[in-house]
Amino acid sequence: MTDATESRPALIPDDIARIVVDPKSYTDDDVIYPALKWLRTNTPVGRAEIDGYDPMWIVSKHADIMTVGKQPNLFSNAAESEILYDRANDQFMKAMNNGNPHLVSSLTAMDPPMHTSYRSLTSNWFLPANIRRLEERVRVIAKASVERLLQFDGRCDFMSDCALYYPLHVIMTAFGVPEEDEGRMLRLTQDFFGVHDPDEHRDELPKSPDAAAKQWHAALNDFYSYFSALTKDRRERPRDDLMSLIANSQVDGKPIEEEYANGYYVAIATAGHDTTSSTTGGAMLGMARFPDQFRLVKENAALIPGLVDEALRWNSPVKHFMRTATADTSIGGQEIKSGDRLMLSYPSGNRDESVFADPDVFDITRSPNRHLAFGWGAHMCLGQHLGKLEMRIFFEELLPRLKSFELDGDPKLVETNFVGGLKRLPIKFEKA
Ligand code: HEM
Repeated sequence: MTDATESRPALIPDDIARIVVDPKSYTDDDVIYPALKWLRTNTPVGRAEIDGYDPMWIVSKHADIMTVGKQPNLFSNAAESEILYDRANDQFMKAMNNGNPHLVSSLTAMDPPMHTSYRSLTSNWFLPANIRRLEERVRVIAKASVERLLQFDGRCDFMSDCALYYPLHVIMTAFGVPEEDEGRMLRLTQDFFGVHDPDEHRDELPKSPDAAAKQWHAALNDFYSYFSALTKDRRERPRDDLMSLIANSQVDGKPIEEEYANGYYVAIATAGHDTTSSTTGGAMLGMARFPDQFRLVKENAALIPGLVDEALRWNSPVKHFMRTATADTSIGGQEIKSGDRLMLSYPSGNRDESVFADPDVFDITRSPNRHLAFGWGAHMCLGQHLGKLEMRIFFEELLPRLKSFELDGDPKLVETNFVGGLKRLPIKFEKA
């Protein structure tokens, strides 16, 4: 725990609190990171009372985020929504869902013991020993993605010409979604995570205060109707894919219910590629901004895992998850009451100067690099080994083929306070 003192004001000034919840802030490092630094320095666990939102605590220090993550029964994912909504969207969501605050019945909406049973259905599949089986297939996909990139003749948008498709193809192949449907999965993921981004707004939906929740619902309905045919197919004809594993799994001796199978599918079909592609782009951005790091890793491929971890820390594609206290307690010297909501700010934990020297510097030689990009505790990312393997293999294939590269315009980030990162990364490059 941090040594926050009682004398520090717990209330976060309105302008800072608004920056942290505003999806637009995450498109500009010069807006979001100074605000997070202010929080870590002045109100490490601070109370935000923002018009239009229920009050909440913002937890910004590395140690406090870990303390909360480690206690899933005291800091619940299930009691209230694990994603931050403003009141208008929260009300729409609950009204659509018979009072249930959760968008999807996925692992992130559960607490132990239910969470433990559902997570164990796939946890062996996601272990490094099993993931290594995929290495050869992943390398074939990585090589093809690198070839595709190099065909752009010295100039391209790294995100839309390369990074968006590579992790998508890896996870959809492992999952069992046919290649011709990958574009549809990408579109739905962008609808899902991009609800606040004007470029991703569904044209048919009016721009009302609860538009985000409406877009989430529309995207989810499309996902569910797509997956129901595939579930039926995998129950009749199981294959060696993740969808067959989930569709045919048993919980308490009974076949998994459709609602929970769907929750799993949506988590994998969305979190399984968006995070990885934005971190892959983020690694390129880090090397473009700190060219000595590109030279280092080109000379020494053993630094590629360090490049991957630093890209995760420096970009933090997941901006927050929420928790709800189930009893009175304290964190960082602040008294937390049962029912209080807490926002865990991973980008802040990942720039915490008490853990990372020069936290704004992109340094692939950091060791140890105890970043929180995958969260911490019971809900720590299930797909972390797959995500890291994909990025390692991609850079093992790309770096020997790339002599040099630089930015060819301003990068653009998705407007989101939840999951996302780069959407445009124009680069100029020279082949090796
Ligand atoms: C760069 C890549 C990734 C990042 C940064 C990332 C980040 C995260 C974070 C922060 C959490 C929540 C942790 C918490 O609440 O403590 C999470 C959970 C999760 N992630 Fe990832 N993720 C990545 C890749 C993946 C991949 C490739 C998959 C699947 C194929 C995946 C599937 C999941 C699932 C299913 C959960 C829910 C786990 C639970 O609640 O028990 N993620 N991830």
